[in-house]
Amino acid sequence: MNQESQNVTDYPNSNTIFMVWKLQEGPQLKKIFQQLCALVLNLNNSVFNRFPDSRASCIMAIGYEAWKKLDLPTPLPKELANFEEIKGVKHTAVATPGDLHFHLRADNKSICFDMAIEISKLLSSVAESILEIHGFKYWDARSILGFVDGTENPHGEDRDYFAKVGDEDLTYKGGSYLFVQKYLHNMDAWKGLSTDEQEKVIGRSKENDIEMSDSVKPSNSHIALANIEGENGEELKIVRDNMPFGNPSTNEFGTYFIAYASTFTTVKKMLTNMFIGDPAGNYDRILDFSTAKTGTLFFAPTRDMLDDFSG
Ligand code: HEM
Repeated sequence: MNQESQNVTDYPNSNTIFMVWKLQEGPQLKKIFQQLCALVLNLNNSVFNRFPDSRASCIMAIGYEAWKKLDLPTPLPKELANFEEIKGVKHTAVATPGDLHFHLRADNKSICFDMAIEISKLLSSVAESILEIHGFKYWDARSILGFVDGTENPHGEDRDYFAKVGDEDLTYKGGSYLFVQKYLHNMDAWKGLSTDEQEKVIGRSKENDIEMSDSVKPSNSHIALANIEGENGEELKIVRDNMPFGNPSTNEFGTYFIAYASTFTTVKKMLTNMFIGDPAGNYDRILDFSTAKTGTLFFAPTRDMLDDFSG
């Protein structure tokens, strides 16, 4: 049967709300979850119909503990497990809990806002909100660090190939692993670096977003360590949609890292390269200016599965 995916391969939009919820046990839980699955499908259909040009969508993804708590089908998606922290000599990719993740996108913040209101209204009797972040497109898709983010994302058929589960797990074909981390940046330290030094941290030029040649790109730059290959030298990619967020008045600035992948193994390898280093100890310098405050793995089932779950 043809399985229709959620909007995991949509391109970044101007406004995003991310929400993570923790489910509480209770007699109403399964009933509300059924209604929630129907609501997510309804929201997508409705915003598509009402605002066809806004590229609005709502993606729901489910964590390992929640999958069990909700009695969802077994066996589980092959790689769905609790994320385990990755500890390097200096920096740690922490593991934090989360049952349901919502990724709301639209060109107009009002659409994201109203979708978040509907979801929260339904969920609040059986779940607790543990994270809500309002991300936005900063200038020409720059991260808060001032560098363009997303350039080397896959396009065309590659986008589906790298974001969605394929024939290796037929039951969950068309679904997607979702990995998220909330990072906070030490902007005072970052701004203390010259542009030249910042470019060495990222591995690309700041103004024009051009990749450094291999002969000058430092081995501990972000893109040197995040760019990985498979056993046969083939490039391994993920579909990222990082969003900046922040509160200037409290000097809190961050990046919500978000990636959809056909396999969590690729994401884990990137994280290992960044946090442990390649070779070990040669860790990603972006981490000297960016601290991971959360780290959670989810699975975004297909729309057809959400339909089944809605009862
Ligand atoms: C590339 C920013 C975390 C994976 C980039 C680029 C920037 C950036 C500016 C260069 C432009 C581009 O190709 O997108 C950030 C920031 C992060 C962060 C601000 C959080 C503080 C991560 C994490 C991963 C990752 C946690 C993986 C688990 C990648 C990959 C590339 C990339 C795969 C493309 C590498 C290439 O093929 O050239 N990132 N990133 N990033 N990042 Fe990150």
